[in-house]
Amino acid sequence: MADEQAPPSGPDLTQGVTPSAFTDDKLVGHVGDEEILLVRRDGEVFAIGAHCSHYHGPLAEGIVVGNTVRCPWHHACFDLRSGEAVRAPALSPVGSWKVEQRDGRIFVAEKRAPTKPPATIAAAPEKIVIVGGGAAGFAAAEMLRRRGYGGSLIMLSNDTSGPVDRPNLSKDYLAGSAPEEWVPLRPSEFYPDNAIDLRLNTEVVGIDVKARNVTIAGGSQLPYDRLLLATGAEPVRLPIPGADQSHVHTLRSLADSRAIIAVAKDARRAVVIGASFIGLEAAASLRARDIEVHVVAPEARPMERVLGPQMGDFVRKLHEEHGVIFHLQDTVTAFDGRRATLKSGATLDADLVVVGVGVRPRLTLAEQAGLKMDRGIAVDAYLETSASGVYAAGDIARWPDPYSGDNIRVEHWVVAERQGQTAARNMLGLRERFDAVPFFWSQHYDVPINYVGHAEGWDAIEVDGDIAKRDCLVRYRKGGKVMAIASIYRDRQCLEVAAEMEKQAGGKAS
Ligand SMILES: Cc1cc2nc3c(=O)[nH]c(=O)nc-3n(C[C@H](O)[C@H](O)[C@H](O)COP(=O)(O)OP(=O)(O)OC[C@H]3O[C@@H](n4cnc5c(N)ncnc54)[C@H](O)[C@@H]3O)c2cc1C
Ligand code: FES
Repeated sequence: MADEQAPPSGPDLTQGVTPSAFTDDKLVGHVGDEEILLVRRDGEVFAIGAHCSHYHGPLAEGIVVGNTVRCPWHHACFDLRSGEAVRAPALSPVGSWKVEQRDGRIFVAEKRAPTKPPATIAAAPEKIVIVGGGAAGFAAAEMLRRRGYGGSLIMLSNDTSGPVDRPNLSKDYLAGSAPEEWVPLRPSEFYPDNAIDLRLNTEVVGIDVKARNVTIAGGSQLPYDRLLLATGAEPVRLPIPGADQSHVHTLRSLADSRAIIAVAKDARRAVVIGASFIGLEAAASLRARDIEVHVVAPEARPMERVLGPQMGDFVRKLHEEHGVIFHLQDTVTAFDGRRATLKSGATLDADLVVVGVGVRPRLTLAEQAGLKMDRGIAVDAYLETSASGVYAAGDIARWPDPYSGDNIRVEHWVVAERQGQTAARNMLGLRERFDAVPFFWSQHYDVPINYVGHAEGWDAIEVDGDIAKRDCLVRYRKGGKVMAIASIYRDRQCLEVAAEMEKQAGGKAS
């Protein structure tokens, strides 16, 4: 049966609309089959694609900040004039159209050709090497070419697959609702087409910051003028008997997710160890495959340490409503074949075990190279390490966060991508501070949780709305200051608070 597509919404914009048709300075209409968002700002009207190029979020429900519109779902940011995706997680532009105003009406004219990247920066280095083919490494490589960098660009990754949409590995892909074609961040031809020398299965074993080269397993060396370290993190493995069996998995790479899916196809019962974001997302995805899921975790409430008791109780109830069975304040002490023994003495038989007990940043290379460390790699506001010309981004980097005033390290997809983008521009000599306020999202069944800021502790939690009704914005305050917020289905408010936090931190409008 042929797919029946819903007709594009709103008026035909080639026929013109009046300013009174706008709500909140925005209007969604169409030209042919393409849905277009009109944004009115300071007397000018802009026309760009109505859907975010990340996961198709409705940009009309986002907010306008400066010359950009921000996506309500995961806070990607698009330039209103060109459609360029100026901030991750979106990496591709949305369409951009010319607008004409005559006789009191606004008409959308022809689509603009995609804008060319600006000319290469004069002081561009000749050779850039990126260690890591994940969020930060990929975003950096993409940004370097987008900004017209024409020199040598080598990306080294010890993974078997190219850069993937890692957050999807515990969500729709694991649940079976997203095909594998959606997982790569770009098709394989993107790399040769953009002269990015992506070398997979390549382990970097050493860095010489004086001689400016990296050593690859096997001994060969590659010189660099600028180096980006983006080695990410690896899952913590359980040091308990039987944890090395083939049905016990951790989840970081596409290969890990594929391996879990292969076992899940015939599994009847799974044990998830750890009530972390990844553990609970995996639990939700395995429930979608109709597998009985038990979660074993030492804390009294899932996610309480990050989200507080109120959200923790909600997350627990949400998973219980979907049939997850919790064994909290307990741990697995050993596996004997398929049988897991818990500290409490209980036993659980399972065909599949997913261990989600946290990750450890991969710091060995940096430590051995003598870079300054601070529970991660210490970087300055420009993401440069203590070695000149060597940058670090993503899960490994601890940077001075202008909003909190603290040096922080986080393990978030969007932060890693944005740091990769900033590091790329700085490797080209732009001297741009990394001032984005941290953002992450997590998805449990049909409930998305968005989080902005960074609160390692708080002295007050304020709940605006009703968490149980999935309509809330939770503020985490320390000394009166809002350190972070978490929200459920308050996307617009969440964007507004994020923009305000950024303003307070002295951030850029985009
Ligand atoms: C299943 C899963 C779901 C997630 N979901 C979310 C989410 O919903 N929201 C969110 O904000 N965050 C999420 N995260 C976290 C997010 O994916 C990470 O914060 C992000 O990937 C960090 O990016 P990175 O570039 O620092 O590291 P990675 O993306 O881990 O990339 C590191 C790269 O370095 C390579 N590498 C490491 N050491 C070497 C070496 N010595 N030589 C060569 N290559 C090396 C690795 O192979 C890899 O390619 C999730 C993580 C996982 C695993
Ligand atoms: S859908 Fe827009 S940022 Fe994800």
